[in-house]
Amino acid sequence: ELTPELARAESLIREVDDFPSQGILFRDITPLLADARAFRATVDALIAPFLGTFDVVAGLEARGFLFASAAAYTANAGLMPIRKAGKLPRPAAAVDYSLEYGVAMVEAHDDFPRGSRVLLIDDVLATGGTLAAAHKLIERLGYTAAGTAVLFEIADLGGRDTLNDPLLHTVFNG
Ligand code: PRP
Repeated sequence: ELTPELARAESLIREVDDFPSQGILFRDITPLLADARAFRATVDALIAPFLGTFDVVAGLEARGFLFASAAAYTANAGLMPIRKAGKLPRPAAAVDYSLEYGVAMVEAHDDFPRGSRVLLIDDVLATGGTLAAAHKLIERLGYTAAGTAVLFEIADLGGRDTLNDPLLHTVFNG
């Protein structure tokens, strides 16, 4: 069901064994970013189902920023960087979440009017912990989630269930 252009884009996601640690199959999106047509097709596919339904695009640090920024520009929407702990000068809200080993935290500013409709974008959906925390953050800031768009879903890890967003759209699955 992928267009030829998107099938080509998918083939540009490089699989790297044992990164960042033993036993992990890493999806390296840099060859896709390097290809102008693939990058454009991917950004368009991410936002297509949501056009007209959001005012803001929120991107998850760091790789999510690459797609969220292009998506916001294309859709004429504002951009909200959702950052890891300690990077923002005056975070308006913070949400912590658990990783396989340890905990992490996401933070954001509140530079948009309350009730703004926010589309969340990230590159990979794995366990879903990061995007679930980002959703809580959006809610805590008084915004409305317009949906979640992810480039690559690692289906085995059950992130879709953890996230539990009926408006989840993923472009590639594996
Ligand atoms: C990766 C990826 C997602 C998250 C997915 O980011 O870009 O944000 O993990 O994992 P989850 O579904 O299990 O939460 P990472 O923390 O490696 O950060 P990076 O983008 O800065 O490399």
